[in-house]
Amino acid sequence: MNWQRICSESDLPTEFGVAALVDGHTVAVFRTATDEVYALGNVDPFSGAGVISRGIVGDREGEPTVSSPMHKQAFSLRSGQCLDEPETRLPTYPVRRRAETIEIAAS
Ligand code: FES
Repeated sequence: MNWQRICSESDLPTEFGVAALVDGHTVAVFRTATDEVYALGNVDPFSGAGVISRGIVGDREGEPTVSSPMHKQAFSLRSGQCLDEPETRLPTYPVRRRAETIEIAAS
């Protein structure tokens, strides 16, 4: 895989997201309250706006989620699936931490 540096771990506070451009895709990277990191597509599928990285990080019955700032629908951080409209999902990307940086695999 072609790992690409996104930011340092200290640039991604707990329960926040950052947006990055990876191989022409805008990706939203999140860090949860339990210190896990996830990467999803940044474009909200309903509004078409690149705003997912600004969503609220939370949890629904144990599933880590981000809520779109546009219409508040929640997406699973693990699968990208929209929990309110299950036929819709965001793409997910492999993400890892290495030497205190966060990296995403480009295709
Ligand atoms: S997609 Fe904008 S929300 Fe289910």
